[in-house]
Amino acid sequence: MKARTLSRKNAAAAAAAIKKSSGLSETPSHDWNLNPSNLEDAIETIRTLEREIARTIAITQKQVEQLEGLANFSAILNSTLDTDTIRFKSMEAVCNLLNCETGSLLLVDPSTKELYWETALGEGGERLKHSMRLAIDDTSIAGHVAATCKTLVVNDVKLNPYHLKKADSTAGFETKNMVCSPVVSKGELIGVLQAINRIDGNFTNEDAAFLEALSFQVAIAVENANLYSRLKNTFIQTAAAMAEAIEAKDRYTGGHTKRVVQYSLAIGQYVKLSPIEREHLKLAAILHDIGKIGIDDKILKKQYALNDEEYDVMKKHPAIGYEILSQVSGLKEIVDGARYHHERPDGKGYPYGLKGSEIPKVASIISVADTYDAMVSTRPYRKGLDPKVAFEEIVKYRGTQFDAEVVDAFRTAFESGTLKKKIQE
Ligand SMILES: [Fe+2]
Repeated sequence: MKARTLSRKNAAAAAAAIKKSSGLSETPSHDWNLNPSNLEDAIETIRTLEREIARTIAITQKQVEQLEGLANFSAILNSTLDTDTIRFKSMEAVCNLLNCETGSLLLVDPSTKELYWETALGEGGERLKHSMRLAIDDTSIAGHVAATCKTLVVNDVKLNPYHLKKADSTAGFETKNMVCSPVVSKGELIGVLQAINRIDGNFTNEDAAFLEALSFQVAIAVENANLYSRLKNTFIQTAAAMAEAIEAKDRYTGGHTKRVVQYSLAIGQYVKLSPIEREHLKLAAILHDIGKIGIDDKILKKQYALNDEEYDVMKKHPAIGYEILSQVSGLKEIVDGARYHHERPDGKGYPYGLKGSEIPKVASIISVADTYDAMVSTRPYRKGLDPKVAFEEIVKYRGTQFDAEVVDAFRTAFESGTLKKKIQE
């Protein structure tokens, strides 16, 4: 063997160097003024050190992998502010990093102080989400972890006093082992993160420490997503209040904006939109007539049909809306919906006379929703049309007054009942 070919001097020097650089556990002291009988001891010492170094390298590699995993996990969580995406991706990452079959994230319902399944992978997880809640007490493992705020490794779930059999029977799943960690944000418990059924054996205390690190990241991501969601809702509610304030000027169009929003969302379900366009559709529909704020009240409040001159003034409202909305940086993305919602594919719309594909899809959706609502609504000077008649009118002008793809989506929404259902929500 190679080690046996070392000279006494080299063997001693190698052993000393390894011992000095490793910082590992102390090895028995030797008399390095070797005599032949000590050479075997020296070689054995080197072998012991080699094994310890190999073990340390393996541990270090695992720690590096976990740190990389943690960094990737953090990157995944920071890649989006969509709460559903964050929660689903974090569960997938937990399964990959802890080499387990499944995982779940339970959050605390602030109103009931119960835990509910926010994210649970698989069909069984979906059943849990819709049918079970857990008390924060010792009636379940997750409840116990939430109550104590301490991470728990359970390698024989069936024998654990906190095991809740009902969760497994509801999910149609057998939980064998698990590690469960509290999710805490700003000193307050917001949920529990679980890694379930390790694929290659039992969970260790190192797994528990790693899950705690992941829980910390999840807490930050959930908190950020919730803040973003609250901010977005406040923004939308403010925009809706503005739209309603303008609408209130015309007592005969009450509820028009709300209905246009619901119709737009119903039609939008069947139109190919990018995720961004889909997100902007609601806000664009809310603010589509915001430019009416710049129209003279005499015209806006007129109880009878407008004459040509008045109609020309009214036609300016999309451009006025654009002027208003383009001043707000947070609304730049949605201005097109308001600016072009009276354009037509045949170029006969207003105020710009755009044609075909020049008209953004979101604006085309609002155009159909707006026209349909105007037709079915009763005004002082005319009775609203029957929905079926209004539907046929829209279809009749497919490709001329209205975007063909949007009319097809409108047809699907109308015939499937989605349009009617949306308005009843
Ligand atoms: Fe309009």
